[in-house]
Amino acid sequence: MTHTKKAYVGMSADLVHPGHLNIIKTAQNYGEVIIGLLTDEAIASYKRVPHMTFEQRQEVVQNIKGVSRVVPQNTLDYVPNLEEFKPDYVVHGDDWRKGVQKETRDKVIETLAKWGGELVEVPYTQGISSTQLRKTLREIGTTPQVRLRALRRLIQAKPIVRAIEIHSGLTGLIAENVYLNGDKGIREFDVMWGSSLTDSTSKGKPDIEAVDVTSRIGTLNEVLEVTTKPIIYDADTGGKPEHFVFTVKTLERLGISAAIIEDKNGLKKNSLFGTEVLQTQESIDAFCHKIQVGRSARATDDFMVIARVESLILNKGLEDALTRTRAYLDAGVDGIMIHSKNKNPDEIFAFCNEYNKVPKRKPLVVVPSSFNTVKESELIDHGVNIVIYGNQLIRSAYPAMVKTARTILEHGRSAEADDQMMSIKEILELIPGGK
Ligand code: SPV
Ligand code: MG
Repeated sequence: MTHTKKAYVGMSADLVHPGHLNIIKTAQNYGEVIIGLLTDEAIASYKRVPHMTFEQRQEVVQNIKGVSRVVPQNTLDYVPNLEEFKPDYVVHGDDWRKGVQKETRDKVIETLAKWGGELVEVPYTQGISSTQLRKTLREIGTTPQVRLRALRRLIQAKPIVRAIEIHSGLTGLIAENVYLNGDKGIREFDVMWGSSLTDSTSKGKPDIEAVDVTSRIGTLNEVLEVTTKPIIYDADTGGKPEHFVFTVKTLERLGISAAIIEDKNGLKKNSLFGTEVLQTQESIDAFCHKIQVGRSARATDDFMVIARVESLILNKGLEDALTRTRAYLDAGVDGIMIHSKNKNPDEIFAFCNEYNKVPKRKPLVVVPSSFNTVKESELIDHGVNIVIYGNQLIRSAYPAMVKTARTILEHGRSAEADDQMMSIKEILELIPGGK
């Protein structure tokens, strides 16, 4: 069948099912079918990054009967592509009349009207949907390789990647499952942060590398068991270079996406103590060497070794931070984390402004624990790629637990603590499969 008319279909085509084929079949009746395949960036603007890469999805869609052409659609908004291809029809499932895509739909109708085009809506195919398939897939789990690679894909696809700390299977479940469904789509944590502070604290130990790597990996394993999202590991100083090699190999084998090492030496103390405690910085040469041996230990290029610059923490100033950053980039590091213990983000922003001019800039990570009034939108404006909420789950859980313990002591029974707690029924049903 040759057509003179054009029918445009926008889709993600991550998990292709009969609903998609039905839309394509319908579109064929209206014209030559052009698929506007949403890029990872476009999809990530309102929901999770797709399982398959753009290239993989493109290959699938190109080979579906009836598809004449596949073009990238770079935004959830159809308008730029509609203006370019001026289709006579847009064909879409009728499920977008409500929810996050409603506005997109209104703009499609308005734009098509400029050249007399029309929107054709196909009744939603009942009983199957990508959301449902995605949920099933999540229940099946993931593989180390897919999980490991997910971080790089997220950095590519999202204006900012949002991480939250984990220190147990339960906190992993929070990172995995808590989300908000707002008018701009789903907002959730993209990544988990294997914090040294919260892992040590949950084991009743100080954050001084006293919890050994085997134990830290044990925590990661607990989390890996019950989640699918990628993990960035807080590797503290990385230890001796000869030891860091083994840490990298273990992390990579498990499907952890990145290790962040900080440029300190001697007994590590938590950065947020600043100059209240003795903390010393590693020499640039020695730290570059550690970066290099860590990266050489990787089996693939996917795993990231990220350098954490402690110059601002130690009051060494912006120039020192930048000198070190340039040296670490020259040594081949895969990303930079800049840290600060100030209440306001000014010194972080000053760093960002200079960092953004550095040639061969790599992804930038920040942990706004002390400069916590900064908004994600401001971080995006300053070119930050990953924001880590480093310790908030344990900081909220601990006071709640202490309060309950005190209430029991006070009353000689637990009834008075009831309204501070979830019910027994809720805790029994929190983790499915217990019954
Ligand atoms: C951690 O979470 O362990 C960190 C970040 O290293 S911070 O505590 O802010 O130094
Ligand atoms: Mg730490």
